[in-house]
Amino acid sequence: MVNEYPTGQQSNLKHGFAATDAAAPDNADWTIDQGWESYTAEEHGVWKTLFERQSKLLPGRACKEFVAGMQQLPMRADEIPDFHQLSEVLMQHTGWQVVAVPGLVPDDVFFDHLANRRFPAGQFIRKPHELDYLEEPDVFHDVFGHVPMLMNPAIADFIQAYGMGGMRAKELGVLDKLARVYWYTVEFGLVQEEGQLRIYGAGIASSRTETVFSLDDASPNRIRFDLERVMRTHYRIDDFQESYFVLRDLNELLELAQIDFAPLYQRIATQSELQPGDVLAQDRLFTRGTGSYHRAFE
Ligand SMILES: [Fe+2]
Repeated sequence: MVNEYPTGQQSNLKHGFAATDAAAPDNADWTIDQGWESYTAEEHGVWKTLFERQSKLLPGRACKEFVAGMQQLPMRADEIPDFHQLSEVLMQHTGWQVVAVPGLVPDDVFFDHLANRRFPAGQFIRKPHELDYLEEPDVFHDVFGHVPMLMNPAIADFIQAYGMGGMRAKELGVLDKLARVYWYTVEFGLVQEEGQLRIYGAGIASSRTETVFSLDDASPNRIRFDLERVMRTHYRIDDFQESYFVLRDLNELLELAQIDFAPLYQRIATQSELQPGDVLAQDRLFTRGTGSYHRAFE
């Protein structure tokens, strides 16, 4: 099989990974001014290229909540959005706002923002020669990928709960388990919609190649979401996922936000960790993947 997607060319997002002290800005919460007036025509042009190509791909692939959120926000092809304008609309709908950060922020800063309904978004945009590859989440990933879903009350509450749970998980030494939940939902989640699978994860929605791969390719597994199962499952940080987990609907996130994770951490501590491509007998499968994509690079 010919691989359409050269490995290592996909979005490489390291949310929650600690940034170095040398990169720390003046503000303790790592926020900076977006500096909207300082974006160049070339930078707005990169946004436009990315926006237009995702806008063509996502109808019929993104969930209806993503499409609705996008339509209600002051976000369009011609220019990088102004975070203040986005925040005004978000605030009215779900009480969230978007704050600018220079890139990755330390875990505790990230969690504190989320717990207070502030979404830290990278202020910079990728270069024209790296449209499909970035090492840190930029404004296109963070704003185009995440912000439409923040208009949805279920995601809005879930991400806040994730922020509140983050510090606790760090203290318990189980941050890796919690991070997998975020990864397989907010970043790379699929959801059922009228008998079809649809995208709601920002890592997929902001990636041209993974938008197609996650739904259409024969290679990955598509598995009904199960919280403990996901907590045990490693993920691919530098390539397409080997497995995607599918929610019944977005309201399932509200149920997850109510759960006390502490007993779950204890229970899974005695269970084996799972590799990204593993399939278990008890998994409820939408698709049993061929695994061909990742096998080609072994
Ligand atoms: Fe993200």
